[in-house]
Formats: sequence, structure tokens, C-alpha cells
Amino acid sequence: MIERSHWHPVALAQDVAALPVSATLLDEALVLWRDAAGQVQAWADRCPHRGARLSMGRVVTGRLECPYHGWQFAPDGACVHVPAAPAFTPPSTHVAQTHAVCEAHGLVWVCLQPGDPPSEPPWFAAEAEPGLRKLNCGPYDVATSAPRIVENFLDMAHFGFVHTGYLGSREHTALADYQVHDTPAGPVATGCRVLQPRSNLHSERASEVAYRYAVLGPYTAALIKVPEPGSLAGHLASTGYQESIGLFICPTAPEHSRIWFRLAVADFEASAESLRGFQDTIFRQDQPVLESQRPRRLPLDVRAERHSPADKMSSAYRRHLVRLGITFGVLP
Ligand code: FES
Ligand code: CO
Repeated sequence: MIERSHWHPVALAQDVAALPVSATLLDEALVLWRDAAGQVQAWADRCPHRGARLSMGRVVTGRLECPYHGWQFAPDGACVHVPAAPAFTPPSTHVAQTHAVCEAHGLVWVCLQPGDPPSEPPWFAAEAEPGLRKLNCGPYDVATSAPRIVENFLDMAHFGFVHTGYLGSREHTALADYQVHDTPAGPVATGCRVLQPRSNLHSERASEVAYRYAVLGPYTAALIKVPEPGSLAGHLASTGYQESIGLFICPTAPEHSRIWFRLAVADFEASAESLRGFQDTIFRQDQPVLESQRPRRLPLDVRAERHSPADKMSSAYRRHLVRLGITFGVLP
């Protein structure tokens, strides 16, 4: 399964602290924990002794301790202590299954495939901009496949219906033509323009908003706001900053996903709660429609669903998944 060779986000980095945390990725149960050096670890959530869930255990002196018989495991996965047989030196077979893990964009990322993982998680350009405030929203647990969620994120034709009064209105549902280009990371849509009654927390009047969308990985995408001249964002743009929203999805099961949004905004005044609140409002509008879609898995056969010219970014994303050989969360 090619998805196993990609990095996927599994938890907020700040949530992996003193206690072990459970997570699910591609139908596999994981335990995440932090060793004495502060390095995050991601293992199969299964003790090699009798299969108990390690995430129900605890971290003791930099080791993960199983909740059942108290076996202790060092950060490399090796069992180093068996309380019922303290003189026993566990052989190298007594080892928890470890996975490649790293931190990026405020999230913990895991690659399940043994061997060398890809060099790094998807590149989110706004991350490198010191003039932007970064803030994660979520998680949101959604009963649908990750590709359905990416497609919804890339879709402007639903704004006037699902987000009426916010990102669109029923009076302006026709979309201006936009351009789609393929890049090695995925398709990019440029020249996207929408009239938005309330495009962000502070909007007091409708404005035409220009976007760029970029697919960054099979289940990762970004929206980049092309600033209006004269606005604060426009001022920032002259210094090279562009506000952006990243969509990061953990494909927990073929028809279940966990989502985080990463806001990279020029707004340093609003509270984190109010910025998150706005994102919650928008996403709660998307969620019922997303969960109503059938099939939940994204059909990659072009004949399975009907298309309009407004859907060319969605079609480019589907072709990209075909090129990558993605099978999780899609129908062939
Ligand atoms: Fe983990 Fe026995 S099942 S120590
Ligand atoms: Co939406």
C-alpha cells in the first residue's frame, strides 16, 4: 500500500507530553510518547508480550511501560526490564514495533513503511514566514475518506450554498474561470476569485478574495490568499508574506479521517479562541454535507460521477491520486 510510504499527521505535537497517547493511522493503532530527550516516538500500540495496548501504560524514567505486566521498553523499542523476572535479559526479539516519526507544522507525523521514509512531510510554504502567526485548529473527526475532504477544501462551487453569508452567497454562485497546473507535489489552481460576504473573523463587508490552491501530498493541501492591494495582507505581500491555510488529514480508516487546519495569518490581535471559532463555524458547515456523500470513498473512475467545468481542480486532484497509486479512501 503506497500510502504507507508517505508521511501522515497523527496528533498535535503539544498533546504528546508526559502520558502516552493513542492514535490511528491507515487502520493501524499507534502509541505516541516522548522519551527523556523530548524526542517523540511512534510505535504499534501492541505489546510484544501478550498484545496489550501500550497506550494504556505510562512513561517511567524515559521508558514506555506496558499496563499489563509492566515490561519496560527503551526508545529504540527494545524491552529492557521484565518485572516478573528481573534477572532475565530480554533477547533482541523482545522488541516493540517502532515507526519513523517527526514533528512539523505543530503536528506529529508518522511513516509506517519500514526503511527510509521520504525526507520530510509535505512542505507548507507559509511555515517559513516569520511575519505570520501560526495556529492549529482541530482535530475534527469526520466520517468520510480523506480524499473527499481534500476535494471539498479545493472546491469553490459550494461556497454560495454551504457557506452562504460567509464564504459565498446565493446571489453570486457563478465561478470565474481559473487555471490548473500540475507540479510534482500535486496540482495547483491559480486565478481563483470569489465574492465573499464574510471571508474572515474581521470582515465587515463583502470583498472579492483571490486564492491559490496547492495540493501538497495525497491528503494535504493549502489555500494561499492572494492579497488585495492596500490591505494589511497586501502590505505583508510586499514583504513576501501571503496568508495561508493548510489542510492536514490523518486517514484513520478508509471512511474515517481526523483533520487539522493550520492557519498562517497576519492577524496577531485576535485571540486564538476566536480564530479557531471562525474555522470551527466554517468546518461545521462542511461536515454534514461531507458525511452525506456516497460513496464515502472518492471514486477515481472519471465515469463514476458527473462533472462541470468548475470541477477541473477536483479532476486534477483525482488524476494525481491515480498517478500516485493511492488506494486508501478511494474507489478504483
Ligand atoms: Fe505487555 Fe505483558 S502484555 S507486559
Ligand atoms: Co467548505
